[in-house]
Amino acid sequence: MQRLIPVLNNDHVPLHLISVINTLMTAAKEISHRLHQGSLAGTLGSTLDENIQGETQKKLDVVSNQLIKNMLLETNLVRAVASEEEDDIVEGNPDAKYLVAYDPLDGSSNIDVNGSVGTIFSIMEVPDHCKHGKDMFLQTGDEQVAAGYILYGPSSMLVMTTGKGVRMYTLDHTVGEFLLTVEQVKIPAQTQEFSINMANDRFWSAPMKQYIKDLLQGEEGPRGKRFNMRWNAAMVSDVHRVLCRGGIFTYPADCREADKPCKLRLLYEANPMSFLIEQAGGRASTGYERIMSLQPTEIHQRVAVMMGSADEVGTCLQYHKDIPCQRFDA
Ligand code: F6P
Ligand code: MN
Repeated sequence: MQRLIPVLNNDHVPLHLISVINTLMTAAKEISHRLHQGSLAGTLGSTLDENIQGETQKKLDVVSNQLIKNMLLETNLVRAVASEEEDDIVEGNPDAKYLVAYDPLDGSSNIDVNGSVGTIFSIMEVPDHCKHGKDMFLQTGDEQVAAGYILYGPSSMLVMTTGKGVRMYTLDHTVGEFLLTVEQVKIPAQTQEFSINMANDRFWSAPMKQYIKDLLQGEEGPRGKRFNMRWNAAMVSDVHRVLCRGGIFTYPADCREADKPCKLRLLYEANPMSFLIEQAGGRASTGYERIMSLQPTEIHQRVAVMMGSADEVGTCLQYHKDIPCQRFDA
């Protein structure tokens, strides 16, 4: 099946929201083009700066952030944006309805090795009770009106939800449009594949250590089956695999740095991905709470993440219930 993105009209999505999403698509086509040019475009490598998260910015992080920010604000449909690469929110039309939180280039350490990266976005409406400042963005994941990502891999794909299931679109370079290629994404409830950065094993909490230890024991262990492991080091491509064929993706809290127990950001990584995962029949949790129920307190807030196949996430949560421990992220 191949259809153009206006298929969204069938879901009674407001036209202005479709315009915001189309704008993100236009920016994504430009980013996709630059990524595919690689060294030829002269945009690989790092800048001399760090972002608010203390991470070195890649040149393409900066370019992608500027492109998305400028294009969204120029629509006049966006009240403000919050980006991983901006310390504070950037305001647009004071009368506009939409807020967009985004990670312009997720997994950007993959850029220089020609690996997959992505753009993640979360769209909310300006809340009635708060019309100014960054507090506008402090809404639960349940309040998102649309969310998704663009994966820049061997092909560029848009994966998106407006709360009525998850669809996948593939960028057709010959016509320059994202065409619908998967009508309804459904994650299998069970899996034999997990995704975690094993190098952090010694810093995990007791339940997480035990859960992974039991997975690694395969047929001889308490789980009674063999598990395989995959780690792309780009949330977009790891979660994409989970959406395509099931699995559990997790970046749990750890005790490496006392003041930074979690790596992934709630507003523009965990919430939009949780929205997709739940819409595809999966589960998304911190280990103790459902991610989309969390009340954010900061725009760059970090959170523990375990998401994917419903039964497998359920099993992981059971370890957190059964094994008492002090939470690093409490
Ligand atoms: O945005 C943070 C991020 O790059 C994710 O995309 C990815 O899942 C994770 O960090 C990779 O972490 P690590 O460097 O520990 O492999
Ligand atoms: Mn990221």
